[in-house]
Amino acid sequence: MDTAATGTAPPLRAIRISKEYLGGSFKALDDVSFELRENQITAFVGPSGCGKTTMLRIVAGLEYPTRGRLEVFGKPVVGPGPDRGMIFQAYTSFPWLTAQKNVEYGMKLMGIGTGERRERANGFLKLVHLEKFAGSYPRSMSGGMKQRVALARTLAQNPKVLLMDEPFGALDAQVRWEMQELMIELIEREKKTVVAITHDIEEAIYLADRIIFFSRQPGRIKADIPVDFKNGRRYQRKEELVRLPGYADLEHRLFAMMREEIQETKTA
Ligand SMILES: Nc1ncnc2c1ncn2[C@@H]1O[C@H](COP(=O)(O)OP(=O)(O)OP(=O)(O)O)[C@@H](O)[C@H]1O
Ligand SMILES: [Mg+2]
Repeated sequence: MDTAATGTAPPLRAIRISKEYLGGSFKALDDVSFELRENQITAFVGPSGCGKTTMLRIVAGLEYPTRGRLEVFGKPVVGPGPDRGMIFQAYTSFPWLTAQKNVEYGMKLMGIGTGERRERANGFLKLVHLEKFAGSYPRSMSGGMKQRVALARTLAQNPKVLLMDEPFGALDAQVRWEMQELMIELIEREKKTVVAITHDIEEAIYLADRIIFFSRQPGRIKADIPVDFKNGRRYQRKEELVRLPGYADLEHRLFAMMREEIQETKTA
């Protein structure tokens, strides 16, 4: 449990974040504020270059905002921390370590003993359906399997907030679908607060409880949309989800917003 000091503060609060590059001549993010709710999945959606990755890197503590501040459970973010686990688009497993050792790696850095490490790694490999591949090296694995190792490794460090930058972007359509279903399964079990960046509107609606849509130049929040039509349920089967009343309207709204953004850039 959290200490009393962290109390009921939200897992993450971004307060009027701006980020400038090139000595202030380029504004990547402008006055972005949001609060995440515990155990919710939030998708960051928006056109290329709208600042999604920049925002996530600031949340992870890998970059600093030019203005504004960020709090995790009420405490200011001063850098990366074990409370936030990041998964990148590119596979981030170590090629010289087996799947098992990859999953154990972070726990080793955290000072967790050999026995517990092994036991927890086994549990997480099972969770991502890779228990039979504990001794395999990433080079002998498919893209989806490598990304599952990365997921297990990040979850094994038990972050409260999981940050994912287009985690399935490099995967082909079918593996991507499997990974999305796996995500829903994992989040239901592990109770994490998640931020996932995606270009893919269908993926955003499938995964997210809330969608934050960014507009670009400068990156601002264009819309903050609760995915209400799911009524707080997470559907594992996409074919059920797409038939719910509200699905098509939301998809239409997001496509229209994306279209607006693309057209604005063309005419700018
Ligand atoms: N280190 C940097 N120096 C200068 N400009 C940068 C830097 N990092 C990002 N930018 C610019 O900031 C803007 C936002 O970049 P960011 O990578 O956050 O966009 P994104 O929404 O993640 O895009 P994509 O969907 O293509 O990944 C872009 O115009 C990018 O060129
Ligand atoms: Mg990006």
